[in-house]
Amino acid sequence: MKSVLSERSQLHPAQLERRDLPESAARAVRHLAAEIAVTVGRCPEIATTLSHPVLLRHIDAKYGRLPDAVHEAMRPPATAAGVAVIGRLPVDDEELGPTPYNWQKATELAGTRSPRSGSFQLDVVMLLLARCAGEPFGWEGQQAGRLVNNIVPTPGHEHEQSGASSTALLSPHTEDAFHPDRANLLMLGCLRNPDRIATTVSSIRNAELDAAQRKILSTARLPILPDVSYGSAFGDTPAPPIATLGDDAGGTTLRFDPAYTPLDRADDEFRSAYRHLTSELERVCVAAALAPGELLLVDNDVVVHGRVPFTPRYDGTDRWLKRVNIRLPQRRRDAEAGEDGYGQRVVAPFRTTRGQNT
Ligand SMILES: [Fe+2]
Repeated sequence: MKSVLSERSQLHPAQLERRDLPESAARAVRHLAAEIAVTVGRCPEIATTLSHPVLLRHIDAKYGRLPDAVHEAMRPPATAAGVAVIGRLPVDDEELGPTPYNWQKATELAGTRSPRSGSFQLDVVMLLLARCAGEPFGWEGQQAGRLVNNIVPTPGHEHEQSGASSTALLSPHTEDAFHPDRANLLMLGCLRNPDRIATTVSSIRNAELDAAQRKILSTARLPILPDVSYGSAFGDTPAPPIATLGDDAGGTTLRFDPAYTPLDRADDEFRSAYRHLTSELERVCVAAALAPGELLLVDNDVVVHGRVPFTPRYDGTDRWLKRVNIRLPQRRRDAEAGEDGYGQRVVAPFRTTRGQNT
């Protein structure tokens, strides 16, 4: 069945909070990132994971010096939509070189001394901005633990439910919904998007559910399994049921990934409530067709995101995003304390306090 989400290819600016950086502030971010990139040097040892202590020290020592306007722009989205578009960092297409075909190639390119390797500088930009927002982190099992992921269409993965796909609709989902340590904020930075491919976002705050539906979806009925980007070796791992809806300081939170939820194991009552939730998330969906230099900041506790289908070019000009997971230490998920997250571990070098579940 063709989803209505496939038609959501236009930017809906009125429904998205915009936080445009003053030009001087945007330039300050690029200048600081360039300075750090030159100081630490581009080399595979640093570019592979971005967790090298020298780079981390520079980020931690210097992000506080960025103009107040940058820190202000990176605060968590505050509207019902739970999303903000932050514009606009200067990105020169010439500095990037061709869009790589997969994340491995992107990582490799970031570590080379090619004259067109602005990608590494933009990795540093993403880390600086994410650090202004909270604690950037990666996953050991995803893109080799790199703190900044590259999202590019990849040959052979066109139909997957993962960031490497293209021709398939990437269904709305909570990022890393299967794991208790998933991001509170998700930051997507656009390097290149010539066909204005839209990212879709839907907030639980805008969805209408009756009391009975809320009650059913707030009970732990089904598990959510890890997505394909983590591999597929989870057959023997216990899969505990989790609640779709949660609560944070009186506000409803959402943990939703239908592509990795075995709905056929649920009873009719649950399936009906879940179907209603799914249709509500489609109804309230808005689309952000990011332009180069724009960032999408998504509250992953209340918003699900996806992407409309598109035809990959595979000629070096494809859509290219960078993604960072961010933890907000002030938020806790005590109800999920017993989950082991299928053995997946975070790479969290900026973590200043103990884990959310400890
Ligand atoms: Fe995602």
